Amino acid sequence: MAKILKKQASQDHVKFGLDKISVDSKRKKILKLFNSISSNYDKMNDIMSLRSHRLWKKDLVERIEFFRFQKNKKFVLDLAGGTGDIAFLIRKRWPNNHITIYDLSLEMLNVGIKKSKKKGFTKNLSWMIGDSAYLPFKESCFDIITCAFGIRNICEIEKTLSESFRILKPGGKLLVLEFSPDVINPFKNIYNFYLKKIIPKMGKEIANNMDAYQYLCDSILTFYKPKVFSKMIEDNGFQKIKIIKYLGGIACLYIAFRI
Ligand SMILES: C[S@@+](CC[C@H](N)C(=O)[O-])C[C@H]1O[C@@H](n2cnc3c(N)ncnc32)[C@H](O)[C@@H]1O
Repeated sequence: MAKILKKQASQDHVKFGLDKISVDSKRKKILKLFNSISSNYDKMNDIMSLRSHRLWKKDLVERIEFFRFQKNKKFVLDLAGGTGDIAFLIRKRWPNNHITIYDLSLEMLNVGIKKSKKKGFTKNLSWMIGDSAYLPFKESCFDIITCAFGIRNICEIEKTLSESFRILKPGGKLLVLEFSPDVINPFKNIYNFYLKKIIPKMGKEIANNMDAYQYLCDSILTFYKPKVFSKMIEDNGFQKIKIIKYLGGIACLYIAFRI
């Protein structure tokens, strides 16, 4: 019995950087972390990735391929949508669809809402606060679900994937963009040095938050390898899974369908 309880407890624990902690603790820590870095989030992304995150996000949006869907208005859910980058790119590229930006952190969403007002993007965008593992939507109501650099931070990844499958229409598409620890040699050594030694220092100097950026590096290095994550997507019902690797594998785009 003790063994079973111990096994159960370890299953309830999830990765948080180099540690394993309970789902509730991770949720609280992640919420606190993103609330605290929200005002510097966009600036830090540009600096740390030398703006390459913008190219990867643009590619994700192109690969939605709205033209393949029938002509009427489509419904998109951007999970862990944060400050709205993916939503704004979709809004610009394919203006007539409705996008719901769903995120745990009110502060991240608030930054996004301010940006949307500045851009004049008021129509066809909804901002919702919540945990991606608990989606308050009916079955089969979205055509597209996107998630950029969110899945690694989400405490219940499997539930998020199964919930995404439930609310996606048959024929709908899931696009997940995430960093990967599986980088090709010899690029890997330079990248690991950059992650471990440079990024936390940048976090301290620029955002005055070394811990948050230390977590960022640790969470990248401990995230699932592409094959493992893609199997997880498949195990939650998705089919025709495709992986697109950027910059020697630093980031991966996972594309999957609900058939
Ligand atoms: C690295 S940011 C990515 C934001 C945005 N998608 C982008 O690409 O710039 C990760 C986001 O995931 C959100 N997040 C973390 N756990 C979440 C959860 N369980 N449910 C919904 N959002 C979550 C955070 O609040 C944060 O805004």
